[in-house]
Formats: sequence, C-alpha cells, structure tokens
Amino acid sequence: MNIFITDGYDEMAETAVDILIDSIETNRFLKLGLPTGKTPEGVYKLLARAHKNCGVDFSKLTTFNLDEYVGLDINHPQSYNRFMKENLFSKINIPEKNYHLPNGCAKDLEEECLRYEKLIRESGGIDIQLLGIGGNGHIGFNEPSTCFSRGTHKVKLTKETIASNAEKFFDGDIDRVPKEAITMGIKSILDAKKIILIASGIEKAKVIEALVNKPITSRIPATILQRHANVILIIDKAAASLI
Ligand code: PGA
Repeated sequence: MNIFITDGYDEMAETAVDILIDSIETNRFLKLGLPTGKTPEGVYKLLARAHKNCGVDFSKLTTFNLDEYVGLDINHPQSYNRFMKENLFSKINIPEKNYHLPNGCAKDLEEECLRYEKLIRESGGIDIQLLGIGGNGHIGFNEPSTCFSRGTHKVKLTKETIASNAEKFFDGDIDRVPKEAITMGIKSILDAKKIILIASGIEKAKVIEALVNKPITSRIPATILQRHANVILIIDKAAASLI
C-alpha cells in the first residue's frame, strides 16, 4: 500500500486529481470507478476545472459508479445519479453513454445487479477505482460483515450509514434516507487494476488506522484492500493521525 499524507483536504484532492489526469492523458480510454460522498467533491471540482481551464479531454473516458440507492429516481435530488451529474458529468465532456450507475429503480433488482456487473466486465474492467471510506469501514455500500466474494448486489444499509448520510445529504432526516442500495461488491472493487482511496478529517482516523494496521476482517470491509497489489491511500494529516 502506498500512502500519501497531505496537509489537508485540498491537497488530498489535488494529489488524487494529479494521478487521475495523468492516467487519463496517458490512456484516454480509461475505465474509472467513482464514489459519491463529501470526500470526492473536491476531486470532482478540480477535474471540472481541469476541463474548463486546461482543456483536459474526457470524451473517451468510461465511468462506473460504485452504488445507488434503491427506489430513488435518477432525477431525485439525493440520488447518486443526480449527484454525479451536478458535481462532475455536466461539467466535463464525457458523453452520456459513457457513464454508468446501477439503476436503483429497476423492476428486477437482482437482474440489474447482474447487468451492471456484466457491463463492467465487458468494458474490459476498471483501470482505476477511486474510493472513499465510511466511518464503519465500508467501501461502496459494502457494510460490516459483507461477504468478500460478491460482485454487484443489493444491500441493507446500517443504522450508522443511514444516520451519516441523513446528516450530510438529507437535512438530518433519517426517514428520508433509503434503507437499501445496489453496490458493487468487494470482488468488483478488488478486480480494479489500481485503487485510490481518499480520506480526510479526524473522524476517519480510527478506520484508517484499522485499514493500515489491523488484520483483514469483514467487520471492517476496507481492510480487504491489504490484499490488493496496487492501492494508493491519499489521506490528510488528521485522517493519518493514528497510523
Ligand atoms: P464521505 O463518505 O466521503 O461523505 O465521508 C464516504 C463513504 O461513506 O463511503
């Protein structure tokens, strides 16, 4: 695991974006896995700026998002589809056909999970998977006790994740947060050729310490990243403070 420790959130985002842009300029047909959440917002802002100010070309990029809530329409203000359009896709020149999220409103959710996994596989697989991390160690929506061998599947969100997302995105209203989601599985994530995990702030320090130092356990799903040969952690000083 390569670890970059940055001064703060902004430098964390800049460091990740430097790697991403370098990779996109080396391979315009890059397949990129993307997260939602507060942590990647800075990365998306800088990617948008790189397009606007420096003409970085995203027209051949393909992206796959990690997850989507079950039951939220793609235009729902809190859907991840909408989040991605507002934060990134509307601000760069990626064609609509090139970005993908699971459809949380599919009639048959099991079939949708299979379709999504197949789509990723048939694209040739993800070159770089960008990840955030939940305070409980989830990556994507793979919550504690997840099974490491699964591909894309439907999950029930934990109380902790629902409370955290309520506070960040639903004005604190737990009742409005969907209780289920579709997520790429740990297997889908580990299949990526390279993984970049970003984290910032003291509230992530404990889980980052576990990710780096503790034995692999499904109780802290992110610890499985120790088994991947090409992981870069880009974390700020506060998130790194317990390593
Ligand atoms: P955050 O969420 O970036 O909003 O902290 C990360 C996650 O829950 O995966």
